[in-house]
Amino acid sequence: MSEQPPNTTSDAGAPVASDEYSLTVGAAGPVLLQDAYLIEKLAHFVRERVPDRVYHVKASGAFGYFEVTADVTQWTKAAFLSEVGKRTPMFARISSVAGEEGYADTLRDVHGFALKFYTEEGNYDMVGNNTPVFFVRDPMKFPDFIHSQERMSDTGLRSNNAQWDFWTLSPESAHQVTVLMGDRGTPRTLRNMNGYSSDTYMWENAAGEKFWVKYHFKTEQGIENFTDAEARAMVAEDLDYHRRDLWEAIARNDHPSWRLEMQIMPYEDAPNYRFNPFDITKVWPHKDYPLIPVGRMVLDRNPENFFAQVVQAGFDVANFVPGIGPSPDRMVLGRMFAYADSQRYRTGPNYAQLPVNKPINEVHNYNKDGPMRYHHNGNQPVYAPNSYGGPRADPQRYRDPSWFVESAEIMRTAYVPHKDDDDFIQPGTLYREVMSPPEQARLVENIVWHLSQGVERNIQERAVKDYWSKVDPDLGARVADGLGLGSSAR
Ligand code: HEM
Repeated sequence: MSEQPPNTTSDAGAPVASDEYSLTVGAAGPVLLQDAYLIEKLAHFVRERVPDRVYHVKASGAFGYFEVTADVTQWTKAAFLSEVGKRTPMFARISSVAGEEGYADTLRDVHGFALKFYTEEGNYDMVGNNTPVFFVRDPMKFPDFIHSQERMSDTGLRSNNAQWDFWTLSPESAHQVTVLMGDRGTPRTLRNMNGYSSDTYMWENAAGEKFWVKYHFKTEQGIENFTDAEARAMVAEDLDYHRRDLWEAIARNDHPSWRLEMQIMPYEDAPNYRFNPFDITKVWPHKDYPLIPVGRMVLDRNPENFFAQVVQAGFDVANFVPGIGPSPDRMVLGRMFAYADSQRYRTGPNYAQLPVNKPINEVHNYNKDGPMRYHHNGNQPVYAPNSYGGPRADPQRYRDPSWFVESAEIMRTAYVPHKDDDDFIQPGTLYREVMSPPEQARLVENIVWHLSQGVERNIQERAVKDYWSKVDPDLGARVADGLGLGSSAR
């Protein structure tokens, strides 16, 4: 016999009489203001949304674990990486960037790869993408970059013209745009792509030695991509193809997994390395810094409630644990402000108390009150220092991760270029040495198609002359031909 379902209640827990009829004066009379349950229901309904993330809005999320597979204690003292076989629970949010919640999953886009590790020393968040590089290298340019990708203020439409205008005036974007226009811009599923920190971070071992590191999460499902035509055809078939695929794979116990491999650079190498190691538009060639195995991440549990766990998840680039820290990468330093600021705006100052964001260890500090405060430490003192046993920060036990900065004047300026720093070298190598001839042909086709969608002639010409021809003269010529521009455009 099936159990009797519970009686509906108000949010305060009192039983209610109907989910069908409002309270009225007779059957034909007006609805009454005293129908507190109706008012609660309508008032709650119109507040169901929180402000969206400014980008990375559409996403899938899943829980899982990270397992250490190699001894990395020579490079980091992070407790969750301290022993082979150690498992740490985690949550992943994998997103597309430019579209809104209802946007089609398979359209060409970068994909976010945000990971939260619930460690015994607090949450560690690794907020990366499925590409090893990024479009800009200074946080000052980030809002302008995103504006160029979003809907325009007059038409409400996205504009390829704005995208190419920004990109071709920002040569540092050439590497990322080459990746985006290539096959990896349209991953077949979220399970068939890698994740990267893209940014450079610091690891520090128990002896205080520091290393510069980049994270690579390699898909164990293998890389698989759609062609541009397949990706666009899928838009008509299933807008939510990526979200559905991840959900269904986990539901049938086909748990996707990624191997974590790191590039690790000794602290002293940074000043004289041939590329500026803190420039996010560059990769570190593997022959200089080979990949070192670290662990494996498995996603094995779907969320129970999409809004509570996936929408309200708050990742913060500043969430480090002892043994991991920032680097002089300007993007990391800018991002360390922006993420928590966004969550304070979207979800409120107590966002870290929501179950998906809450650390597994206890929180002790002097922050108090604010809307939706749930967790508290009873009547502990509300100020430090105090004589009444409140939490104490111990500078002997915990030090902020740090590095030496040359003595220099405070200024606004570009990074000082290293020997091989040039915005076109690495995308040129990617085109000539990494892509096969069919991949090169698809790259050209994708660029030409994208540049043909409402992009003004002068910007097309700039894209050929000042951008693709500098990445590679052959690539420039092929794009010019595809656009029907004469040889003078090259
Ligand atoms: C200075 C440059 C950047 C700024 C100011 C910035 C800012 C932001 C902000 C405000 C959010 C929304 C956070 C929220 O409300 O939860 C966000 C989301 C995100 N950003 Fe960035 N971002 C920057 C660069 C990057 C880079 C370089 C990457 C990748 C390497 C990246 C990856 C992501 C991802 C994956 C998300 C979605 C996180 C989630 O799933 O909740 N961002 N970013």
